[in-house]
Amino acid sequence: MRYAIVWASKGGNTRQVGEALADALRAAGCDCTYAGEVPAEGSMEEAAALAAECVLAGSWTDKGDCDAALATLLGKLGGKRVFLFGTAGFGGDPAYFERLLGIFAQHLPATAELAGGAMCQGKMGAGVRRRYEGMLAENPDDARAQAMIANFDAALAHPTTEDLARIVASARESLGW
Ligand SMILES: Cc1cc2nc3c(=O)[nH]c(=O)nc-3n(C[C@H](O)[C@H](O)[C@H](O)COP(=O)(O)O)c2cc1C
Repeated sequence: MRYAIVWASKGGNTRQVGEALADALRAAGCDCTYAGEVPAEGSMEEAAALAAECVLAGSWTDKGDCDAALATLLGKLGGKRVFLFGTAGFGGDPAYFERLLGIFAQHLPATAELAGGAMCQGKMGAGVRRRYEGMLAENPDDARAQAMIANFDAALAHPTTEDLARIVASARESLGW
């Protein structure tokens, strides 16, 4: 079984998860045809990724879905075993992660075999906190803005080493390497 790991990461959170998965696969002596950012369509790197029978595909969360380039790649994974991973700004609710994984999976062709998936929270840019701070400045009792700031601050530590270990363990269990 040959593996490929492909990720879409704007800020580095999802890349961290992808690199942890690549390290674990290599440490186990698995054959990796490609590990890196979503390759350009038609490139040699894309051909290398698509040569694998098993693809670990990850994305940051962009307005409730995966990255558009990763969605295009997912559409090319017919006949392959797939493990999905990702990071999202909102954490604390495993059901939210499951919902997002389900949305990412909708980009897979029907012939792809979804073996599993796992996500964790990922830190967001400072501009996001400033926006919530602005909401709070206008209305200090805004409970939603307070909750958003608390979530932003909680996200700063993620992905943690525990997040990475949990996602690697989930992939290993799902794919059986
Ligand atoms: C334009 C934009 C849209 C986002 N949309 C969501 C979203 O819908 N849900 C969510 O939980 N996080 C959302 N986030 C947060 C990121 O998905 C999160 O910080 C992620 O860990 C970033 O991963 P990266 O560092 O690999 O790019 C959004 C961030 C940006 C910049």
